[in-house]
Amino acid sequence: MDALNISYKNTGSYPVVIEKDYSSLCSYISEMFPQLKRICIVTDTNVSGLYLDSIKSALSDCCEVVTEYIFEAGECSKTLDTVKACYDKLLANDFNRRDLIIGLGGGVTGDVAAFIASSYMRGCRFVNLPTSLLAMADSSVGGKCGVDYDRYKNIVGSIYMPSLVYAATDVLKTLPDREFSSGMAEILKAGLIRDGVFYEWLITNFSEIMDKDAEALKYMLDKAVSIKQYYVTKDPYEEGDRMILNFGHTIGHALEKFFDFKYLHGECVALGMAAAAYISYKRSMLSNEEFYEIRDMFVPFDLPISLEPFEIEGVYSNIGHDKKNTDTGLKFILLKKIGKAVIVNDVSEDEIKEAIKNLIVEWD
Ligand SMILES: NC(=O)c1ccc[n+]([C@@H]2O[C@H](COP(=O)([O-])OP(=O)(O)OC[C@H]3O[C@@H](n4cnc5c(N)ncnc54)[C@H](O)[C@@H]3O)[C@@H](O)[C@H]2O)c1
Repeated sequence: MDALNISYKNTGSYPVVIEKDYSSLCSYISEMFPQLKRICIVTDTNVSGLYLDSIKSALSDCCEVVTEYIFEAGECSKTLDTVKACYDKLLANDFNRRDLIIGLGGGVTGDVAAFIASSYMRGCRFVNLPTSLLAMADSSVGGKCGVDYDRYKNIVGSIYMPSLVYAATDVLKTLPDREFSSGMAEILKAGLIRDGVFYEWLITNFSEIMDKDAEALKYMLDKAVSIKQYYVTKDPYEEGDRMILNFGHTIGHALEKFFDFKYLHGECVALGMAAAAYISYKRSMLSNEEFYEIRDMFVPFDLPISLEPFEIEGVYSNIGHDKKNTDTGLKFILLKKIGKAVIVNDVSEDEIKEAIKNLIVEWD
C-alpha cells in the first residue's frame, strides 16, 4: 500500500491514499485506531444512496458501532444548522473524542464533517473519504474546513487535520460529468502554478482522463495531491506560499457569488484562471500564445472560458469580501510561466476589471 504523507508544522502528518476501491480501508482504520468503539459516517443524500451500505459493511470489523448522519446534498447544507444537527446525533449516541468521524462525500461533506470533528468535544478523530474529483485532488488535503454563514462562503471554520484521507477512484464513475469537469479545474491549476510538465501531461492525456481510465486517474491524483502537499506542508496556515493555491480564486469566488452559485466552483475557478492569465499576459509575464493556450485548454475538459454579458462592477464588488484580502491589500496570484506562479500585491482595479471584461463574449 503506497500513500503520500502530508506533514504539518509541529504536530505530525497524515497519509493520503489513492486506491481503486475501498478494499484496504478497514485495514488502514484498524491499524490506526485499534480498539475503536464508534464511527459516525457523515455523508449527503446523493452519496449515501450509492456508497453508504458498502462502506458500513467494509467498516463493520473495525469497531463496535457504525452509525451515520445524512444531510441534504449541496452547498445549501454547508451551514451551522447542519453542524448542529450532527452534534445532536453524536450526543444522542454517546460519542466522545476517542470515537471516529468519517466524512464520505464531496468537498461540501469534507468541509462540514471536518469542522464537526474539529469542534465536537474540542476535536475528535477524523478520516476523510473524498468522493468527488475536486475533493480527492484538492479539498480533502490541507485541513481547511468550515461552513458558509450569512452571505459569506467558508467564513466560519478552522484548520483541522484528518488522520487519514482515502480516495477510491472507482467512485468517480458515478460522479456527474459536470462535477468531474469542475474538479479538473483544480487539477489544471496545480499544473499551471507548479509543474509545467504535469500540465502538458494533462493536455496530452485528456481523453484517458475524461474516460476515467483508472491508471490515468491514479497518476493524475498522485501528482495533484503532491503539489498541494508541497504548499500545505510548507505553509499550513496560509501565511505565505500557500496563497499560490488561490490562483484563479479571487475572481473565481467573486463570479461564484455574483451568479449566486449557478456555476460550479471549478467552473468559476477556470474563468478566474483565464482572467488571471490575461493579467499576467498584459503585464508581459506570459506571451500571447501562452495566454491563449491556458485559456483554450479548459475547453477539452468541458470548462467555460467565457460568459454572456454581465455587470462587471457587480462581480468586482464581490472581490472586497473575499477572505484572501488582507489588511495590507489584495494579494493576487499571477503566472510567470506555465508551471510557475507568483504572489503580487499591486494589481490595480483597472487591471482586474479589464480581465473580468475579457471573459465576456460579445455576440453579434
Ligand atoms: N477545504 C478546502 O480546502 C476546499 C478547497 C476547495 C473547495 N472546497 C469546498 O468544496 C466544496 C465543493 O466541493 P464539491 O465540488 O465536491 O461539491 P459537493 O460536495 O457538493 O459534491 C458535488 C455533487 O456531487 C455529488 N457527489 C459527490 N461524489 C459523488 C460520487 N462519487 N458519485 C455521485 N455523486 C457524487 C454530491 O452529492 C454533490 O451533489 C465547496 O463547498 C468548496 O468551498 C474546500
